[in-house]
Amino acid sequence: MSAPCPAAPLVPGHPFFHYADGHLMVEGLALTDLARQHGTPLFVYSQAALLDALAAYQRGLAGRNALICYAMKANSTLALLQTLVQAGCGLDIVSGGELVRALRSGVDPNHIVFSGVGKTRLEMRQAMQAGIGCFNVESLAELEVLNHEALALGRQAPVSLRVNPDVDARTHPYISTGLKANKFGIAHEQALAAYRRAVALPGLKVLGIDCHIGSQITDSAPYLDALERVLDLVQALAQEGIALEHIDLGGGLGITYQDETPPAADHLLAQVLQRLDARGFGAHRLLLEPGRSLVGNAGVCLTEVLYRKPGTEKNFLIVDAAMNDLPRPALYEAWQAIVPLQGHSDAAPEPYEVVGPVCESGDWLGRARTLAVREGDYLAVCSAGAYCMSMASNYNSRGRAAEVLVTGQSAQLIRQRENPDDALQLERDLTL
Ligand code: LLP
Repeated sequence: MSAPCPAAPLVPGHPFFHYADGHLMVEGLALTDLARQHGTPLFVYSQAALLDALAAYQRGLAGRNALICYAMKANSTLALLQTLVQAGCGLDIVSGGELVRALRSGVDPNHIVFSGVGKTRLEMRQAMQAGIGCFNVESLAELEVLNHEALALGRQAPVSLRVNPDVDARTHPYISTGLKANKFGIAHEQALAAYRRAVALPGLKVLGIDCHIGSQITDSAPYLDALERVLDLVQALAQEGIALEHIDLGGGLGITYQDETPPAADHLLAQVLQRLDARGFGAHRLLLEPGRSLVGNAGVCLTEVLYRKPGTEKNFLIVDAAMNDLPRPALYEAWQAIVPLQGHSDAAPEPYEVVGPVCESGDWLGRARTLAVREGDYLAVCSAGAYCMSMASNYNSRGRAAEVLVTGQSAQLIRQRENPDDALQLERDLTL
């Protein structure tokens, strides 16, 4: 990898993306070449960045009885799942659709955990038939239904109860999940009663406990607070003779979008393991469900500048990617870096509202961004590996973007661009 060009802007949080001779590179390839070859909008992922993010977790868990179940909702593109699974990950799924993708990835079904507040009976049956490792059950009502479905199949469903520890993850309210006010998990004070019920149900085999307090968490404290609350329950359960095999701490570790400084996964895990050991639970199997922190900064979205539109109050930069490709700014007012693929330009730097072609005022990708660009130039929207492609839609009948995975000097197209005919195939044409 050549050294970053010191004069060029740095790309926050993206060690595998750097400028060389004025071109933004991913590993050994120039992103402009990929944009020209595959068209835009285009998601580009670095395999080295993915594996590097995973390696931090693996280092942190070395020598432990542990399993990293990648939360595939962050990005469920098959080739990325396969990359992570081949590197040793299990998967955290939340729907029957994710189950199908997970099984296609080649993951050991026993390394799948199934989270989510609204599993249907059909999804439960399909997951049991596939032989998944654990259902993370989120309510008493779900326990009863799962028991019923397991008995109907002549099986015992492996379960863990998702406990809501009532800990504030101090993140965006839409992605905070561990507070009483959130719909997730079984309230801490109801958890013992729920476990008593679960062990009494013949169709269930109680394996563990889990919690997930939110996403884009940039500080260790909420994790450690949640861990203490969970361990209090593990202890209380053990005193009642309910021995658990595993503790699943969910996902949620944040990434650097701008200037956030989340703890490195291995450092966070050192703190977690130290607490587990100190309280005598070091021998329990530890499960984790990271999503964003594995894929978020492994990907960018390339887009072309269509028009510069000077306004009376603001200048608009209209690009060919939009809220259907990159929904996080519209949904959460999220900030993602936007950088030019050509680090040097003779255009004058100007502040722009970077917006897409979708017919909504909410269709913006970046506000008040100073960029030196011309029409036809390419930009990269950074930190686009997580919760972008997996949340993309076909709004305005826009086909979803293509995706490329880069490994060193080579690039593979891992998802073709959708064309309007693809979408029409599922519809009825009343004139025929
Ligand atoms: N486990 C469970 C049960 C979850 O609900 C989630 C995320 C994860 C693991 C993975 O969390 P992560 O490590 O990725 O933070 N669309 C939002 C994020 C929603 C997260 C939902 N749950 C965004 O773009 O910020």
